[in-house]
Amino acid sequence: MTRVFSGVKPTGHLTLGNYLGALRQWVAEDQHRSDALFCVVDLHALTVDHDPARVRRLSRQAASLLLAAGLDPELCTVFVQSHVDEHARLSYLLECVATDGEMRRMIQYKEKAARERVRGGSVRLSLLTYPVLMAADILAYGADEVPVGDDQAQHVELARDLAVRFNQRYGHTFVVPRVTLPKVAARVMNLQDPASKMGKSEDVGPGIVYLLDEPDVVRRKVMRAVTDSGSEVVHDRAARPGLANLLEILAACTGGDPAALAAGYSSYGALKKDTAEAVVEVLRPVRERHRELCGDPGYVEGVLRAGAEKARAVARPTVDAAYRAIGLLAPEEDVVPEAVR
Ligand code: TRP
Repeated sequence: MTRVFSGVKPTGHLTLGNYLGALRQWVAEDQHRSDALFCVVDLHALTVDHDPARVRRLSRQAASLLLAAGLDPELCTVFVQSHVDEHARLSYLLECVATDGEMRRMIQYKEKAARERVRGGSVRLSLLTYPVLMAADILAYGADEVPVGDDQAQHVELARDLAVRFNQRYGHTFVVPRVTLPKVAARVMNLQDPASKMGKSEDVGPGIVYLLDEPDVVRRKVMRAVTDSGSEVVHDRAARPGLANLLEILAACTGGDPAALAAGYSSYGALKKDTAEAVVEVLRPVRERHRELCGDPGYVEGVLRAGAEKARAVARPTVDAAYRAIGLLAPEEDVVPEAVR
């Protein structure tokens, strides 16, 4: 069976962008058709200035939201990255396969490091090596497919390169993964700035809809979305990015086609109103289930504990094999009696 791996980083509250761009597809398709693992990648949250209590809180929240959105622990594995040592173990080996030039070419690193320097801050070394840890996340599980938003495609490409290189140098060890992009709404843009992604890292923003926003907050944010000058409703990403974003969100929520939907509107106001209601309806069950789960923290903890155990059992043999392949001596307790080998 196809193995799927993906992760969410607990650096901010999850957004409509995370939901429509990735999570919904994990729930509706990936967990049913594959052997899927979904990971709250908390180690990745330490690559930028962070507050320990906040990372803990957001990690717990991200895990409950994954379940609230419909990931079913009977169908897939949901766990927290730092609960499984294999990620960090493998990351170091892959640092010995990757080059510094490769890291410095990563677009996300260049952008984030530049932003940090403008603010006069320092750039953590882990921000540079982050894509290697991400590659370790993927390769440790022998994932065939990695469903992510298109901004992560370059990182998955790197994971492929490292897998191929490791296999060539040290013998076949890793499955070479490929990225899979969601069919609709791969990219939900910021409602106030349709040129940039609706990310979760910039903390609060009137252009970002969070999964846990109250319905009235969602309505207000959508009604205030920037639209383009002109009054005719057409779907044109290049010329009318604000409008296109609304149409694409509406299409993703209702299952329609953005261009076809555009034809049904003669005013921006009506489009915004319908989009707001569609978003409220899509988020309603997620918010409700999240509220229930908050009342039962023991359940979420249990899911994460069982998930980490399952994940460990999958990753351990592959990471051990990589240790041997690259030339590290097996510790005595790992030595399997000659007869069994
Ligand atoms: N880098 C991803 C993001 O920012 C999160 C991530 C970390 C991830 N490790 C992963 C995604 C492994 C897929 C697979 O969204």
